[in-house]
Amino acid sequence: MDAVVKFTSQSQGKDRLFRATQYACALSVYLLRNNSERKALVAKLKSLETTMSAGRKLFRLGNTANSIEAAKRTMQLSDRVLCLCLTVSNVNRALYFICDNVLWARSVGLIHDIDKERWSLNASRYYFFSLVMNLTRDLYGVVQLMVQRANDKRFKQKMNQHLNESPEVAEVVIPQLDAFFFLLLETLKSHPAIALDTVKNICDLFIPLDRLGIYQPNAGVVGFCGLISSVIGILTLAQPTLRIKP
Ligand SMILES: *[C@@H]1O[C@H](CO)[C@@H](O)[C@H](O)[C@H]1NC(C)=O
Repeated sequence: MDAVVKFTSQSQGKDRLFRATQYACALSVYLLRNNSERKALVAKLKSLETTMSAGRKLFRLGNTANSIEAAKRTMQLSDRVLCLCLTVSNVNRALYFICDNVLWARSVGLIHDIDKERWSLNASRYYFFSLVMNLTRDLYGVVQLMVQRANDKRFKQKMNQHLNESPEVAEVVIPQLDAFFFLLLETLKSHPAIALDTVKNICDLFIPLDRLGIYQPNAGVVGFCGLISSVIGILTLAQPTLRIKP
């Protein structure tokens, strides 16, 4: 079990590079869709996208074990909200990977008699719930930090200065709203890890929303959001200080 967990965390970097490539292809295919001179290129990009997606499924084989281990860890968290959000998220993530592995086994012919559509829909559903829980956790974290900031004396001075410096803004927009956004932006600026995680989770949300048919953005939006989220994923892997904890 340990070896599986260790190996899959090492292959995370590869998975993220593949994922970035996959969505970069999807975005390029979308941007080149009307260009009749680039038909051959588009076909190549499409096949590269499929290869990347299939290759990633192989890397993900050990991820169920990884998510279960993560759920065991987050169950120990003393903060009730974090404990609940992250544990539910990790359990859903584990269920997602089970569906994903079954779909992989079907695609390589190891198993036959499963309903592909249903498993794929369930996979998206679990992925979606995992993301919603992650976003709830981000929101909770941001609110906590904002409250902390708002009670900080030095910050209060800075805020008053900001409101006095830009009276024209305060006149047009409701001053409370201006103060709220100032506080929000300052909080996110001083905590880039939570800001990046929030952006990443919002970007990721488009993928299951599209698959579940709740909201269907065009293929360009899906490709773009997937690419942004993958780049953030690579960034946080390369620079651990940008990774949200726990
Ligand atoms: C939810 O957050 C956890 C911890 O940051 C992360 O490991 C997991 O990949 C996230 N879930 C999804 C679906 O991105």
